[in-house]
Amino acid sequence: MSKKLNNNLKKILLIGGTGYLGAHAAVALTEAKFEVVLYDNLSNSKRTVLDDLKKIIGTQPAFIYGDVRETGKLEKTLKDFEIDAVIHFAGLKAVGESVKRPIHYYDNNLIGTISLLKAMSGSRVRTLIFSSSATVYGKPEYLPLDEKHPTSAINPYGRSKLQIEEILADVSKADESWSITCLRYFNPVGAHSSGLIGESPNDIPNNLMPYITLVASGDLPYLNIYGNDYDTADGTGVRDYIHVMDLAKGHVESLKFLKEKKGFHLFNLGAGKGYSVFEMIKTFEMVSGKKIPYKISTRRKGDVAECYANVDKAATIMGWKVTQTLEDMCRSAWSFQKNKY
Ligand code: WQD
Repeated sequence: MSKKLNNNLKKILLIGGTGYLGAHAAVALTEAKFEVVLYDNLSNSKRTVLDDLKKIIGTQPAFIYGDVRETGKLEKTLKDFEIDAVIHFAGLKAVGESVKRPIHYYDNNLIGTISLLKAMSGSRVRTLIFSSSATVYGKPEYLPLDEKHPTSAINPYGRSKLQIEEILADVSKADESWSITCLRYFNPVGAHSSGLIGESPNDIPNNLMPYITLVASGDLPYLNIYGNDYDTADGTGVRDYIHVMDLAKGHVESLKFLKEKKGFHLFNLGAGKGYSVFEMIKTFEMVSGKKIPYKISTRRKGDVAECYANVDKAATIMGWKVTQTLEDMCRSAWSFQKNKY
């Protein structure tokens, strides 16, 4: 099987390309002179993102309306646009919802990825970046978490991510012409500096930052802090928040890495530092000038006390590390929220 390197990686298909992460990756990839094609079923994003992207990057990326489980449509897209590599962002990601709707999660996340792999095989595209998650580490046995930390999943969302990583490792073992990287995201937050694209969940947000921005805008009365009795400095949960544009740039570096590499690879994408809920609230209040009222409520099922990354591998091998601070994350998230009105 051909072992030629992928030196001509130019045209990149973003599955889930109009979503929060996909749209920011489209900006970073275009700025790095890649050509992107967006493929999305618009189940958690809006077509208007295409107009916002045109304002940011100057051109409107090609868009295909489709679901990742439509293997034929995917294969046609890969061939028609002469795609060189794929980034797979399209996954359902609400932990709580995954517990209530496991079939929906496995169908979309697992079957969707197998459909993509079939389409790529059928169109001889062998370079893939997969959006994985720090959730695959389960309850941390040590911190910071490096890529060697044992994996275990405690909910269908996390299990689907872990199972997909294992499928991709098997594909790579079976056919060494594949170049595959799994990027384990920690907590992506914030928005592009233009304020035009950002995180806008369709309903009440599960995640901390989008919830805080809705409290700041007056759309929600107060924040529920899920427990302040954890074994952390101030008792609230600690997470590794990473600016979405730093995360997006991690995809650019991963593509450059895969130009030279075959095989299966894993990288953490995080800031390498943890912040508590109280620290997030304090930083957001400082940059926005808004008070964030809160109530202490019971712990959320499945939450861990503390989770943050060891990011040495991505820094050493890909020369990638974050540049944005927690203040930058809060400022950009608030700017996007204000821009919505
Ligand atoms: C952060 C902290 C909560 C909301 C999840 C997924 C992960 C990734 C990011 C997809 C925790 C606390 C939160 C609120 C709160 N998703 N919190 N009140 O759970 O670390 O990660 O989202 O890629 O895979 O697992 O993120 O933002 O939900 O929570 O007190 O209303 O904020 O307890 O300590 P999480 P989060």
